Amino acid sequence: MLREWRLGQFAEAAELVVSELVTNSVLATRAARWPTRQPPVRLWLVSDGSSVLVRVWDAVTSPPERRAAGLEDESGRGLAIVTALCADWGHHYPPPETGGKITWAHITSPWMTEEAFI
Ligand SMILES: Nc1ncnc2c1ncn2[C@@H]1O[C@H](COP(=O)(O)OP(=O)(O)OP(=O)(O)O)[C@@H](O)[C@H]1O
Ligand SMILES: [Mg+2]
Repeated sequence: MLREWRLGQFAEAAELVVSELVTNSVLATRAARWPTRQPPVRLWLVSDGSSVLVRVWDAVTSPPERRAAGLEDESGRGLAIVTALCADWGHHYPPPETGGKITWAHITSPWMTEEAFI
């Protein structure tokens, strides 16, 4: 999609961010044990032509929160990766008739620089 929009330079970062956020939403929804079948997760890619906004909706209202992952921990780094790749990220709540929440992440720099991981 980003290549079609001539924003291919953001694709690598966006792939990682989408992967982390969608995985979190799928796992959070599964953990919530909905009485019916698993609700969907929705993904939007939005751009103003010079940056990319990733938005992911899921049906649970608990917020994404960074965990302090220890050296031996095998998980708890997803949002640290999102923080490193994005100018900002957060979540907000749509109107009650929609429910759930939207987690968003704003990618403004095209390249994954070494700096981003320090
Ligand atoms: N969409 C979400 N809904 C509810 N809670 C979330 C959501 N995304 C993240 N969280 C909470 O924030 C925590 C940290 O997320 P993060 O992605 O950093 O780590 P992780 O998913 O536990 O592990 P990893 O991504 O490294 O496999 C999660 O463990 C979860 O408790
Ligand atoms: Mg995660």
